[in-house]
Parts: sequence; structure tokens; C-alpha cells
Amino acid sequence: MAALARSVLVTGSNRGIGLELVRQLAASPRPPQHIFATCRDPKGPRGKALQELAAQHSSIKLVQLDTVNLPSIQGAMQAVGYHLKDQGLNLLINNAGISSHTTLHSLDSQEMLDVFATNVVGPLQVVKEFLPLLEQAAKGAGKEGLSCSRAAVINISSKLGSIGLCLRVPEAPMYPVLSFRCSRAALNMLSKCQSLAYKEHGILCVALHPGWVQTDMGSSFGHGHMPPVTVDDSVQGMLKVLSSLSEKETGAFLDWEGKVRPW
Ligand SMILES: NC(=O)c1ccc[n+]([C@@H]2O[C@H](COP(=O)([O-])OP(=O)(O)OC[C@H]3O[C@@H](n4cnc5c(N)ncnc54)[C@H](OP(=O)(O)O)[C@@H]3O)[C@@H](O)[C@H]2O)c1
Repeated sequence: MAALARSVLVTGSNRGIGLELVRQLAASPRPPQHIFATCRDPKGPRGKALQELAAQHSSIKLVQLDTVNLPSIQGAMQAVGYHLKDQGLNLLINNAGISSHTTLHSLDSQEMLDVFATNVVGPLQVVKEFLPLLEQAAKGAGKEGLSCSRAAVINISSKLGSIGLCLRVPEAPMYPVLSFRCSRAALNMLSKCQSLAYKEHGILCVALHPGWVQTDMGSSFGHGHMPPVTVDDSVQGMLKVLSSLSEKETGAFLDWEGKVRPW
């Protein structure tokens, strides 16, 4: 099986789904040559699991990247560009995200703004700053069509942001995580816009729902119920989906099992 991509960057990779993405990418039979595992504090205690993983795999490079801090994004872009020389970045996974307890009845406007800053403006800004590296990869790949091995943006979204599914999400109450749901609906629109804008640059863009997953965030959605999907299964599924993506799927909203989800 061919490598998914020569170079991959994951945001928010110090725990949860991001950490498992880095772990499975590094352990795959044909690992990417460069895995840029980014997080807010890669040298601090919150980056400990990532530091231990990087010590076992020379493909993993730890990079500081706070997705709501423009100088941090720009610094990360410089560091990644330096490593890649002139080959560009193939695959950017916008994974970092937050949730909150805002409901229709207990609106905290600052909390709502913070969720939008991380879940919508962050992915927008990260792609904007890394675009030259993605374009470089798309041009240099010597490949036709769209794929993760050429150049791609994957926005980790959520079916909780699906307006079409809104009345049919049995496992999570509707009104709690209101800000999260609204921010994921906005991220889905952003993904669609990115896909239309970047198709001609050779860059594939997809919004991907990881399942309801056993992480800190997943557990916070459950009100005592255990999320049904393990981090291992979610990431295995998503990596399989990523390896199958082509121009047919750009602009789509898919889940970790490859199913098309309604906007
Ligand atoms: N788990 C689920 O059931 C589920 C369902 C649907 C969608 N998702 C999406 O999947 C993605 C990963 O979620 P998860 O379950 O792994 O969540 P998690 O366990 O809470 O981890 C969230 C990650 O995002 C990072 N992060 C938050 N704000 C950041 C910022 N400003 N800059 C850089 N990193 C930041 C966190 O870093 P710190 O350690 O520094 O806080 C952490 O690494 C999120 O986008 C989430 O919305 C998850």
C-alpha cells in the first residue's frame, strides 16, 4: 500500500484524536517521511505523551502551534517550511478544537466567541498561512487529480454541526454544546468554500466527522454515557477514508466510516 502522504501536519496533537492520528501515522507500514505533530506547548507537561512518541519515531517533529495565535501559526509555518525545503506540505489536518457548556438558556457570549475562535477562525487562519506550502506540494507532486498524497486539507468537524441531522442525533442532547454545534456548522461551510477556492490549485478539502469518540471532549458530550467509538477505531477509520479520497469527494462532509453526512 502506498504511503498516505509524504508530509502530514496535525493540529492539537498532544492528546485525544490528534495524538492517535500521529501515533498511527508513525506506526503505519509506509509512514510519512515528515509528521509535524503540533500543539500549544510541545515542551511542557501537556506534551508529555507526544514527547515520548516522538522519541520512538524520527519522522515525528514537534512544532509549537496555537491555532488562535497568528504569530504562533506563522512561526510554525516557517519551521515546517524549513524542514520540507522546497517540497511543500501534502496533508494538513485541522484537528484542534474545543467545546463548551453554553446552552440556549445559559448563554455566555465570551465562551461562544472563544469556541468560534478555535473551531472556525483557527482552521481558516491555519490554512491561509500554510497555503503556500500546500500549493508547492500540489505543483511539485507531478500528479493529476486530487488526493491526500498530493495536497489536502482535512477539517475535523462533527455531525453535531449538521443542520440536516439536527433532529436525529439520539445520542446527544440538542441544546447543550450549542456553541460547538454552531461552530461545526460554520466549519462545514468553511470547508465547502475552501474546496471550491482551492480545487484549481490542486488541493482537496473535506470535512470529516470522527464519530462520537472516547476522548476528553467525547466524554464531555455524554452526560455520563460512554462514547461508543474508541480513539483507535476512529483514527483507523479516518486514515482509511483519507487514503481513498479523490476529486470526487472534495467539498464533501464524510464520517470516519466513509459515509456521506448531510450538511
Ligand atoms: N471526541 C468526539 O466525540 C468528537 C466528536 C466530533 C468531533 N470531534 C472533533 O475532533 C477533534 C479532536 O477532538 P478530541 O475528542 O480529540 O478532543 P480533546 O481530547 O479535547 O483534544 C482537543 C485537542 O485540541 C487542542 N486544542 C484546543 N485548542 C487549541 C488551540 N487553540 N491550539 C492548538 N491546539 C488546541 C487541545 O490541546 P490542549 O491539550 O492544549 O488543550 C487538544 O490537543 C476536535 O476538533 C473535535 O471537535 C470530536
